[in-house]
Amino acid sequence: MPALVLLGAQWGDEGKGKATDLLGGSVDYVVRYQGGNNAGHTVVVGDQKYALHLLPSGILSPGCTPVIGNGVVVDPSVLLSELSGLNERGVDTSKLLISGNAHIITPYNVTVDKVTERFLGKRKIGTTGRGIGPTYADKINRVGIRVQDLYDESILTQKVEAALDVKNQMLTKLFNRRAIGVEQVVEELLGYADKLAPYVSDTVLVLNQALEQDKVVLFEGGQGTLLDIDHGTYPFVTSSNPTAGGACTGSGVGPTKISRVIGILKAYTTRVGAGPFPTELFDEDGEALRRIGGERGVTTGRDRRCGWFDAVIARYATRVNGLTDFFLTKLDVLTGWEQIPVCVAYEIDGKRVEELPYSQTDFHHAKPVYEMLPGWSEDISKAKSFSDLPKNAQAYVKALEEMSGAPISAIGVGPGRTETIEINSFL
Ligand code: GDP
Ligand code: IMO
Ligand code: MG
Repeated sequence: MPALVLLGAQWGDEGKGKATDLLGGSVDYVVRYQGGNNAGHTVVVGDQKYALHLLPSGILSPGCTPVIGNGVVVDPSVLLSELSGLNERGVDTSKLLISGNAHIITPYNVTVDKVTERFLGKRKIGTTGRGIGPTYADKINRVGIRVQDLYDESILTQKVEAALDVKNQMLTKLFNRRAIGVEQVVEELLGYADKLAPYVSDTVLVLNQALEQDKVVLFEGGQGTLLDIDHGTYPFVTSSNPTAGGACTGSGVGPTKISRVIGILKAYTTRVGAGPFPTELFDEDGEALRRIGGERGVTTGRDRRCGWFDAVIARYATRVNGLTDFFLTKLDVLTGWEQIPVCVAYEIDGKRVEELPYSQTDFHHAKPVYEMLPGWSEDISKAKSFSDLPKNAQAYVKALEEMSGAPISAIGVGPGRTETIEINSFL
């Protein structure tokens, strides 16, 4: 059996956690391949609600092995508290595997994230403040600390020294902060070593052997396509590759093993943090989407910016990820609008543009060109099949499918596992 990728097709918070959890019961492994605890994935099982930040959503499915791949950045204190929080609620987390090559978010990476944002002032990115960017920067600069370094005190000390050398200059001379002591950091990190030891393994080998044995591996993306460091709205992006290629580099599984790439797509659009957002609404409709959709960040508690569906972005996500399917979420939130605007193209400097412009300047100037689709007023939260949906809701889904370039194989009509219409099976 093959590997599948499930990723965000917009700016994150599309409902990846719910979608992953839905498939979790039928797959053998769920793998996070990038990002860290900047993610906030909400999973609702019966009357229980879980907010996962670092752990793959598959952790809630007893038969499934959750894996934190080499491409993830791990804050050990967050990981351990997430694990103990789940244990207290009766969730067995003993199967978790963590790549020894995953990089560690150190306390100084969190400090640097926060002071940098403050320094940027109005040019700030609006990061989650979790140390994600600085940790990936250290990885690329080859001064990162990896999980495996926790098991060699001498190497760990040398690496922390190397990393802090430059950072302490920056913190004291540029940011006017106190220097961070090497010993204090090493001691804190060593304190995590024994607690993490049972989980640390060669995840590349495990996953490839599993695929050879016909096991099913599901890759769960954090963030979303437009937050990708290469393909997103740079510089207003995260520092990793949530797009499909990231699943390979972030796990050590080759692209020939992946047979399906599922884009999670919200029936409207949201974004947290700074950056361009052509269909953003500043009126009562935006407020209503935020209220009805419960659009408040799981990680930072910030209100999400809300806007209408943007088909230009969806088409772009299909292209850069090679999407085979979409999972359309939160269709129920649109119930009650008489007409629903959908952005089908942009107008940039008086010209109609059908595809996402590669120029940041153009994207900042893009004005949405809307097509109005008729709405519906019936409650759709109990719909079990496509034909249960009101005709106008069916037409809305079909129109989005047509514009977005890949089949919509499932539709979310509520936050719960069972509040899903399955059209084509993913497995
Ligand atoms: P993620 O980061 O992509 O996992 O998404 P979040 O969990 O941050 O945000 C999605 C929110 O929408 C969560 O509160 C989910 O419980 C909720 N949700 C997911 N799918 C649906 C759906 O189809 N309908 C409704 N009403 N809520 C949904
Ligand atoms: P999930 O997985 C939405 C955004 C931040 C900020 C930018 C960079 O729940 O969809 P970072 O801390 O990553 O350096 O911040 O990326 N961001 C997210 N937005 N959902 C997320 O995750 C996000 N993770 C990061 O708001 O604009
Ligand atoms: Mg989220």
